[in-house]
Amino acid sequence: PRVAVVFGGRSSEHAISCMTAAGVLRALDRDRYDVVPVGIAQDGRWVLAADDPAALEAHGHELPEVDTSGPGVVVPTSTTDRALVALRPGEVPATLGDVDVVFPLLHGPFGEDGTLQGLLELGDVPYVGSGVLASAAGMDKHYMKVLLAGHGLPIGPYEVITPRQWVGDRDAVLERVQRLGFPLFVKPARAGSSMGVSKVDDVAGLVPAIEAAREHDPKVVVEAAIVGRELECGVLQDLDGTPRASALGEIEVVSGHAFYDFEAKYIDSGNVRLSAPADVPDDVRDRVQELSVQAFDVMGCEGLARVDVFWTSDGDVVVNEINTMPGFTPHSMYPQLWAVSGVDYPALVDRLIQLALR
Ligand code: DAL
Ligand code: MG
Repeated sequence: PRVAVVFGGRSSEHAISCMTAAGVLRALDRDRYDVVPVGIAQDGRWVLAADDPAALEAHGHELPEVDTSGPGVVVPTSTTDRALVALRPGEVPATLGDVDVVFPLLHGPFGEDGTLQGLLELGDVPYVGSGVLASAAGMDKHYMKVLLAGHGLPIGPYEVITPRQWVGDRDAVLERVQRLGFPLFVKPARAGSSMGVSKVDDVAGLVPAIEAAREHDPKVVVEAAIVGRELECGVLQDLDGTPRASALGEIEVVSGHAFYDFEAKYIDSGNVRLSAPADVPDDVRDRVQELSVQAFDVMGCEGLARVDVFWTSDGDVVVNEINTMPGFTPHSMYPQLWAVSGVDYPALVDRLIQLALR
């Protein structure tokens, strides 16, 4: 089969997506797959990229980005007319419609949020991972919580700040939010990799944190900080469609960061310890796995997802979030969880493509 590996994208997680693509390009079995690397530049242009994983990896603090010197790519918008959008006028572009499956290795808005998935649906092109609704709801921390709680899954206390509320009655918003108690996490509703997220310890920090989150998304979610351990669980479908849970992983920020922020995730990762499998009692593991599969199901996910939970100091498990396209470099948590659960990285990539081609 011919596989388009699509990466980069317009979101603030552009660089993470490039690093993920490097891992996948290295892992794809070239005897079985004909690979078409497609980069989406930060300005939204689609280009045919070089099949060069090294160019997509981070070098020290220098994060990778899509090189826009390649020829433009035409994206499919209907089954009958597969080439409607010429992205660079005057060029004869490649046609994405000539692929059997798209692997959208994109994180964040315009990639992980259902927009790209909708485009691929229009073009009748099979793709890896969740569809339009699950992607959109999974990207939006507000609606994600509404869906999880609506199905009876345990989540933590939170408040939503819509743009109209913030502009209309800021004092009322601040009063409502403070009732959650400090410390708090202030997050853009639709972003990832902790972009725009702040931990707030007192009322003085609230307005700057909300404004910082609003730079990423006009809608903001505020969560009560949960005292406990942060655990993660991978969910992957079997070829018959049954979602299975991986071993659990645990993130520990060893020093220097108030929480698992962007720096700790990708730049200063020496200060973060990822352990998989996590050292937790069997009943906690079972509960997290059960909740993770339930979260996958109620969100209507397909293919893969990573579910992040807290095991609270009171002994409860609460779901923090679900990521429909989790970080996917060979060193990322999701692939590591599957590696310790008996599915190595090339097998994982292969399974996801096979699921999309079913
Ligand atoms: N949003 C990042 C990539 C993650 O969830 O791993
Ligand atoms: Mg998370």
